[in-house]
Amino acid sequence: MTRLLIIGPPGSGKGTQAQRLSNRLGIVALSTGDIFRRHVRERTLLGKQAQQCLDSGDLVPDVVTNDMVGQRLGLADAEDGFLLDGYPRTLAQVSALDRMLAANQTQLDAVVELAIDDEQVIRRLLARTDGRSDDNEEVIRHRLDLYHRQTKAVVAEYETRGLLSEVDGVGPVDEVTERVLAALAMSISASTP
Ligand code: AP5
Ligand code: MG
Repeated sequence: MTRLLIIGPPGSGKGTQAQRLSNRLGIVALSTGDIFRRHVRERTLLGKQAQQCLDSGDLVPDVVTNDMVGQRLGLADAEDGFLLDGYPRTLAQVSALDRMLAANQTQLDAVVELAIDDEQVIRRLLARTDGRSDDNEEVIRHRLDLYHRQTKAVVAEYETRGLLSEVDGVGPVDEVTERVLAALAMSISASTP
């Protein structure tokens, strides 16, 4: 049973690595950004609430995001483990996730931070061809700014809890995956009594 988080700035490779780790570890990968984008595409009520935030690179309000994650983690495929990509991003979301896990008598096993500098992020995201509404330089810089101002505090919190492994997110995708798996093996074996 494995409950993991992957954290990192926009474009650090969270989604790319989450898919690969999901296959290797046999746990479901859940990206809050992907879930929001699906709701926007399907024009659901949640999609209508979230669209403006996604387009401008702002964070969707915590109460909306926490509620969505709570519902998603309640589904059967997340019962035996999960890899959350892009959540939590604020300290209020950390507390909400703590409550969700405690309600199920579970806890996180490890948190991986993908490290990459801002200028590399901008180069990567401007080269992405998915047509995302938030992949233009002004919005990318705003997303990065929010990462530094809000999500870095989340990283620091998990470091204090002894759950964090920082992994270099720059290099061939396969190599980054191997680095993450090695970091997880070390952090999970270190926490096993
Ligand atoms: P989200 O979808 O999570 O976007 P993000 O954090 O900005 O990150 P990206 O998805 O752009 O990048 P990534 O780290 O997944 O990298 P990827 O693998 O794609 O969130 C979008 C929005 O949703 C937010 O702005 C907010 O509005 C809302 N939201 C989401 N979560 C929320 C929350 N918890 N609270 C509130 N609001 C929330 O890779 C990027 C590119 O680089 C790709 O082209 C890829 O092919 C390439 N690449 C990947 N790895 C490598 C490598 N090793 N070398 C070279 N290129 C690589
Ligand atoms: Mg992503």
